[in-house]
Amino acid sequence: MMKRTFLATSIAAVVLSGTSTVAVAKDKMTLYCSAEENWCQLMLNSFEEATGIDVSMTRKSSGETFAQIKAEATNPKGDVWWGGTGDPHLQAAEEGLTAAYVSENRSELADWAISQATSAGDKTIGIYSGALGYGYNTELLAANGLSEPSCWKDLLKPEYKGHVQMANPNSSGTAYTTLATIVQLFGEDEGFEFMKGLHANINQYTKSGSAPIKSAARGENTIGIVFMHDAVKQAVAGFPIKVVAPCEGTGYEIGSMSIIKDGRNPESAQAFYDWALTAEAQTLALQVNAFQVPANTGAETSPSAPDLASIKLIDYDFSKYGSSAERKRLLKKWDDEVSVLPQ
Ligand code: F6P
Repeated sequence: MMKRTFLATSIAAVVLSGTSTVAVAKDKMTLYCSAEENWCQLMLNSFEEATGIDVSMTRKSSGETFAQIKAEATNPKGDVWWGGTGDPHLQAAEEGLTAAYVSENRSELADWAISQATSAGDKTIGIYSGALGYGYNTELLAANGLSEPSCWKDLLKPEYKGHVQMANPNSSGTAYTTLATIVQLFGEDEGFEFMKGLHANINQYTKSGSAPIKSAARGENTIGIVFMHDAVKQAVAGFPIKVVAPCEGTGYEIGSMSIIKDGRNPESAQAFYDWALTAEAQTLALQVNAFQVPANTGAETSPSAPDLASIKLIDYDFSKYGSSAERKRLLKKWDDEVSVLPQ
């Protein structure tokens, strides 16, 4: 059914030029993907199967992808940026790196996904949502005689020195969400004191947001600050991971999608965008244990997905923390005042 729809679109792309017909180049595209590799791959394969459009894909974290799109702005190589936290997508919209588009499938989405679009002049849109938290390896915690953390501030305890891992907020959307969440929860001064205290316990800042919980699952790290759905994924895979929604409350992401401005394959980009908003495409997440809450209200949500209604969520200010000035300012301050401290 879906295949037929896209076939029709494809035929419509054959146009007359003088006396001969010319096929408009719309049968390929380049996807920049900032979700988990196996989810990116499944989206790519399923879209190719549904439409016959060839997709080449690069998987990078949210902050890295933003930086790449910005660096390529005068000669864009990507067509669609799918997945990754919403803040850098909002920044890309503000900086004119992405194109406005209103899909006919938008009406199928939850309000929070549509608000993401309307707040950015339709230059991005929400595709999933998930709460930030952390997870820990219960066996390693016990083996090291450590107490069970349940709050953000527990992570500052000296007993956890060398036992906590998070990503670098420059490369990772997860880690930027962490920084922005802590600042919103505790205020900027206390928030930065928190980040400095946390720094003393950090064993490594990874590039990718989910890496800290993957290393905890493998027994190479004890506590990983990640989106809760990424910790649930490891627990569901059978690893001894306990998932924590911090007692003070926590932030969340609106994972987003944007069409890259002046991309080489705009029609294929719109075809991907329309397809990625469908319930069918969003339900694919279940096949790869991606436990985010989907934006399409008709898509299936896994029973293992953290229930956002039962988590104490802050009123995350996406327009402020997704703004170009604020994201740049906070990252610079973290670079200047936190990352340089000795450990
Ligand atoms: O796909 C897992 C996920 O946690 C998404 O929910 C999120 O948008 C993305 O990864 C963030 O990845 P990173 O922190 O590496 O930018």
